[in-house]
Amino acid sequence: PQGRLLDRLQRPLRDLRISVTDRCNFRCSYCMPKEVFGKDYPYLPHADLLTFEEITRLARIFLAHGVRKIRLTGGEPLLRKNVERLVEMLAALRTVEGTPPELTLTTNGSLLKRKARALRDAGLQRVTVSLDALDDAVFQRMNDVGFPVAEVLEGIEAARQAGLAPIKVNMVVKRGTNDDQIVPMARHFRGTGIVLRFIEYMDVGSSNGWCMDEVLPSAEVRARLQQAFALVPLEPSSPGETAERWGYAGADGRHDPALGEVGFISSVTQAFCRDCNRARLSTEGRLYLCLFAERGYDLRTLLRGGASDDDIAASLAAIWGQRADRYSEIRASLPPETRRSARRIEMSYIGG
Ligand code: GTP
Ligand code: 5AD
Ligand code: SF4
Ligand code: SF4
Repeated sequence: PQGRLLDRLQRPLRDLRISVTDRCNFRCSYCMPKEVFGKDYPYLPHADLLTFEEITRLARIFLAHGVRKIRLTGGEPLLRKNVERLVEMLAALRTVEGTPPELTLTTNGSLLKRKARALRDAGLQRVTVSLDALDDAVFQRMNDVGFPVAEVLEGIEAARQAGLAPIKVNMVVKRGTNDDQIVPMARHFRGTGIVLRFIEYMDVGSSNGWCMDEVLPSAEVRARLQQAFALVPLEPSSPGETAERWGYAGADGRHDPALGEVGFISSVTQAFCRDCNRARLSTEGRLYLCLFAERGYDLRTLLRGGASDDDIAASLAAIWGQRADRYSEIRASLPPETRRSARRIEMSYIGG
């Protein structure tokens, strides 16, 4: 059965986020805090990981059901050995429209200097780099492994030179930790063609000790930016987009494309579940219908148990057809006990 799928809330399946490793060389406190992800943390054994052939086979089936965009995530996706080979295999696939899928990757940038060119040659179109501060002390406190800002900036520069554009930079904002970096980050990337996005700190997983006090609402981030720069709202570039876009205005008060734009990802204060068209495939081949899901659907057993493409497609259609997830919209109405006790998947496992 080929064709486009709709879930119970009439949302199509458009975007597939594939996690290729559950490991990372950073220990961001909001994602893989050292206390939980220590030396003895039980990462997935190699045999449990989907192979590149298995990932590509699933991706082909997803594309036949309306997916247009594929994003590789982790952990840190560039830690997966020969990931550029996987990029090459995915770049050869086609959407139902007959076009290559939009192919991108979210990375912490630490290995980008070394890998940008090979990724581009393999068919990657763009990258999103996480960077939470320009000040080394602040950044190193957040990545918790002493990784310097300069090397991430070099990675971004290598990506730019390789033609991986447009580049986006993700900054998770934590009140009291890096909120003094909002304006410096904006100033640094304004006019460079790189799109900086401010992300509200989210209650993903159950190990980051999330509390609302550390969330700086996007409205407040924007107000701080507007004290330094003139901003005008922009139209969304695609339905179901995570970020709300604002452009820098020129002297005439209108958006000046040469100055560029910023984005606000406000999962906590302004949920964007209504048009959420994203599915997530974990490193070991479980399909998750929401970032905050408590369970996934095991596709690896199907793959390794001799199921045909049609069998897998039928499962996918059934799973997507009964999807009703909209966690961010209902978060506020959940009793705090329920929120705390939820056994949710970790961001490093599902790639955000
Ligand atoms: P673009 O296609 O480049 O716009 O990327 P993206 O925003 O879809 O993905 P990215 O990996 O850059 O994620 C940005 C932030 O949005 C991260 O903090 C993600 O965890 C978060 N995010 C992405 N998709 C979802 C989603 O479906 N729900 C929620 N709540 N957060 C999401
Ligand atoms: N809240 C918001 N964003 C997060 N990310 C990781 N953990 C969190 C969290 N708790 C971001 C990363 C990366 C993206 C995929 O998700 O910084 O940019
Ligand atoms: Fe690694 Fe990204 Fe998680 Fe930081 S947010 S620990 S860089 S996966
Ligand atoms: Fe989609 Fe779940 Fe995020 Fe809502 S909370 S936008 S349903 S992934």
